[in-house]
Amino acid sequence: MRAWRACGQTRSAFDQEFNTDTDGIVPLWKLQIESPYREQGVRYQASNPDFIRAAIETLPIQPEEFVYVDIGSGKGRTLLVASEYPFRRVIGVEFSPELNAVAADNIRKYRGSKRKCDDVSSVRADAANWEFPAENTMFFLYNPFGEDVLRRMLVNLETSLAGNDREIYMVYSHPIFAHLLDSSNFLDRIDAPIEAAVYRHVPPITAIQ
Ligand SMILES: C[S@@+](CC[C@H](N)C(=O)[O-])C[C@H]1O[C@@H](n2cnc3c(N)ncnc32)[C@H](O)[C@@H]1O
Repeated sequence: MRAWRACGQTRSAFDQEFNTDTDGIVPLWKLQIESPYREQGVRYQASNPDFIRAAIETLPIQPEEFVYVDIGSGKGRTLLVASEYPFRRVIGVEFSPELNAVAADNIRKYRGSKRKCDDVSSVRADAANWEFPAENTMFFLYNPFGEDVLRRMLVNLETSLAGNDREIYMVYSHPIFAHLLDSSNFLDRIDAPIEAAVYRHVPPITAIQ
C-alpha cells in the first residue's frame, strides 16, 4: 500500500509511538476519487493530536453518550485519538478510497492501552450525501471542503434532526466557511478555549402540560 510519505519528511512522534501512517500532506490530484465534489475537497493533512484531545475535552459532553464523527477523516488520525475516549462509536467519513484504506490499516494497528472505544471505523463515503448516525454526535471538521459541500451537509443534518432530534456538537477547525454555520437556524456558536469555531444543537425542552 502506498503511504504517500514525502521524501525526507521525518515521522511524527505520533506515528513513531503507534507505528501508524498518519503523516504527510497528500494533494487530492494524486488520488482516485469519484465524486462530483472532488474539486472542492481540501488536501489531506492531519490534525495535531493535542488539538484533537483539547477539542474533545473542551466540550461539555459525556463521551459515553455520543458518537464521534470526523467528516473528511483522511488517514484517520483523529479517529485514533478519539478512541482514547469512551465514545459509543468513532466513525470517519472519507471520499478517497486510498486514504480510507490507510485509515483502516491504522485502526487495525492502533491497539494501544489508551484505547477506550473499540468500535472505530473509517467509511468510504461523500460527506455531501452521507447518512448521519441517529445518536447524539460530536462532529469534527478540519477544513475538509468548500462551501457547496458544507452547505449540503448542513441541509442534510437539519433534515436528519427534524426526523430525530438529538444533541450535536461541531468543532470546525480552520473554519473558512464558518458564516454558513453562523447563519444556520439550528446551530448555536459557543465559546471554547481552542482555535476552532464550535457549535451546539440541543433539542428544545418540551413543556410539560
Ligand atoms: C485537511 S484533511 C483533514 C484530515 C483529518 N480530518 C484530520 O483532521 O486529521 C481533509 C480531508 O477531507 C477529505 N474530503 C474532502 N472532501 C470530502 C468529501 N466531499 N467527502 C469526504 N471526504 C472529503 C479529503 O480527502 C481529506 O482527507
